[in-house]
Amino acid sequence: MAVELLVINATLPDGRTGQDIAVSGGRILEIAPGIAAEAGRVIDAGGLLVSPPFVDVHFHMDATLSLGIPRLNRSGTLLEGIALWGELKPLLTPEAVAERALRYCDLAVSQGLLAIRTHVDICDDRLTAVEALLHVKRTVAPYIDLQLVAFPQDGYFRAPKSAENLLRALDMGVDVVGGIPHFERTMADGAASVKALCEIAAERGLRVDMHCDETDDPLSRQVEALAYETQRLGLQGRVAGSHLTSMHSMDNYYVSKLIPLMAEAGLHAIPNPLINITLQGRHDTYPKRRGMTRVPELRAAGVNVAFGQDCCMDPWYSLGGADMLDVAHMGLHVGLMTSREAMTFCFEAVTTNPARVMGLEGYGLAAGCHADFVLLQARDPIEAIRMRATRLAVVRRGKVIAETPPKRASLFLDGRPGMVDPSDYAPPVG
Ligand code: FE2
Repeated sequence: MAVELLVINATLPDGRTGQDIAVSGGRILEIAPGIAAEAGRVIDAGGLLVSPPFVDVHFHMDATLSLGIPRLNRSGTLLEGIALWGELKPLLTPEAVAERALRYCDLAVSQGLLAIRTHVDICDDRLTAVEALLHVKRTVAPYIDLQLVAFPQDGYFRAPKSAENLLRALDMGVDVVGGIPHFERTMADGAASVKALCEIAAERGLRVDMHCDETDDPLSRQVEALAYETQRLGLQGRVAGSHLTSMHSMDNYYVSKLIPLMAEAGLHAIPNPLINITLQGRHDTYPKRRGMTRVPELRAAGVNVAFGQDCCMDPWYSLGGADMLDVAHMGLHVGLMTSREAMTFCFEAVTTNPARVMGLEGYGLAAGCHADFVLLQARDPIEAIRMRATRLAVVRRGKVIAETPPKRASLFLDGRPGMVDPSDYAPPVG
């Protein structure tokens, strides 16, 4: 069989070194040391890390790159962000949303970010953003797997036409059912919204991803209803709770009951470290809570945990750069996950774990998978996070779709000649 691309001498995230990757027909034909094949193109990885692509499982593409329109979020708070989004929404046009989203997708590709689940606000009766992002989804399909979530930002019951708009959005082709139960008028309405939305997903055979308990209120317990409905409707493995920040502040005894319920229901947990650390704890004096959900404890109970970016240059967050290594870096620090094993998990939390949440077909580094991968200027996942490693080459379906030159410094201070990789420090093995 014709080999279109051969990557030689790669290190894989599981630690295997000296691996060659042969690609044919847009899929991985074989991964093994010393593959002898004539190839259309050969990339010498030079012992560096080849990873499956980055996956961002929680994003808002309808708002991205809108920073400053119609004004800046001066306080940097969640509440001003929500108010600002309310001002921006009536001004949106499909053309402007699509143009910003496509610019973002170019950035994402350059960062090796090739799968994105984006929430799309369905509370605008015109469904402007839905229309725009469905167009973007089709346009970027050769490069990025884009999954859309019908997100009732202003509440499923609380906003007058949410329920109707949500069904319209699903009929138009939106993939996933969203929700925001903690934002409904009462706890009871929140639980009722979870029930209604999970039933829609079960009827239509769709996945669910709710903004759930994005608050510092320890009594915000909508995730309990989410786990219950998931179990009741047989949606195990298809439902995600995004944010879950109230868990940070919950009573430990209650959490000791809650986490096993989440594990039993096969819920996925999606913390968003950059946003959680900046938006939560804002009503605290000192000590200020971190707001990120209980990642090590969820992992220990067998819950699949994936990190999302959430925002990039929008009403809620002025920073961000489609860099999932930045997200992993923040999650690692906020969660105090500094053991070797936990640091490696943080890399999985922006690659394989979110791919499971999205149900991506053919994702991974194995024979038969899509030939989608990223060559990083790092020797292992921990170094990739440490250096927010340069994406030397981004490959999609066997074709190089982005390249970035390696980071180098010209150092002559100690008498060494030439160009030196500034990350060139090999930690002791073991
Ligand atoms: Fe979000």
